[in-house]
Amino acid sequence: SRTYVITGAASGIGKVTAEILRERGETVIGVDLKGVEVAGDLSSHEGRRAAAGEAVQLAGGTVDAVIPCAGLSVMKPVTVAVNFFGMAEFLEALLPALGRSEAPRVALVSSMASLQPVSTALVDAMLAGDEEQALSIAGSLADASPESNPIYPSSKRAISRWVRREAPTTAWGGAGIPLNAVAPGTVVTPMTKDLLASEQGRAMTDAYVPMPLNSHQGAESIAHLLIWLTSVENTHCTGQTIYCDGGADAVLRGDDV
Ligand code: NAI
Repeated sequence: SRTYVITGAASGIGKVTAEILRERGETVIGVDLKGVEVAGDLSSHEGRRAAAGEAVQLAGGTVDAVIPCAGLSVMKPVTVAVNFFGMAEFLEALLPALGRSEAPRVALVSSMASLQPVSTALVDAMLAGDEEQALSIAGSLADASPESNPIYPSSKRAISRWVRREAPTTAWGGAGIPLNAVAPGTVVTPMTKDLLASEQGRAMTDAYVPMPLNSHQGAESIAHLLIWLTSVENTHCTGQTIYCDGGADAVLRGDDV
């Protein structure tokens, strides 16, 4: 069996992914604020390092796949700290353990929100690894209106771009590690529960995220793709953001690819 480390494993997409893998007999080490194997706070440098260390220890030194799902959608600096740096720094700490696997794989969660307007300065600060600068820019954007706030879209654009930049490098492609992201549309999880509870919220969401194929999706639709991307079968798919969004990307970007 393979050993998976999944962040955000206490809820939503991470939780369902962990459940499906366990049903298949795989070993899953969950990381989240509480309620799973490793309790840790991925919003801070110390929290990321401690959680990664504990996960590697529980895994016995070798990790076959990492699926970082922990994320926030509040329009505040902490969203940048968790969604981007809580992924990048955590993965960096897990690279040696992935290197001991015979078939190491990583799959992240971006979003169709990565296609929405972003703050270029914020995306650039994340990709430069400058957390202090990124948090300061996000702090200055926190007051922008919630409907057009670029903090969350910027965190997801940075994830998709990071995947594209890192996948071909010696640390990833050169080490035999496929690195990809899945971009969901509107997934029914605790993150979207309040939004989808009112007719007004649903109308606003559907205007931003048109989903001609089957409308809102369950977490398992994303879980199955994350699981394939991190399976032994995936030998050549890397650097990609794969939209699994009921057609939202096809509608919104159209020919612009
Ligand atoms: P969720 O809210 O159900 O689960 C997110 C998990 O991340 C929670 O268990 C939470 O405790 C954990 N988390 C938050 N801050 C943390 C921290 N500082 N340290 C450790 N863990 C922390 O959300 P959901 O929907 O499962 O989202 C998972 C990922 O999918 C996120 O990255 C989200 O941005 C992304 N996504 C979700 C969509 C949706 O419609 N639900 C659409 C597109 C992307």
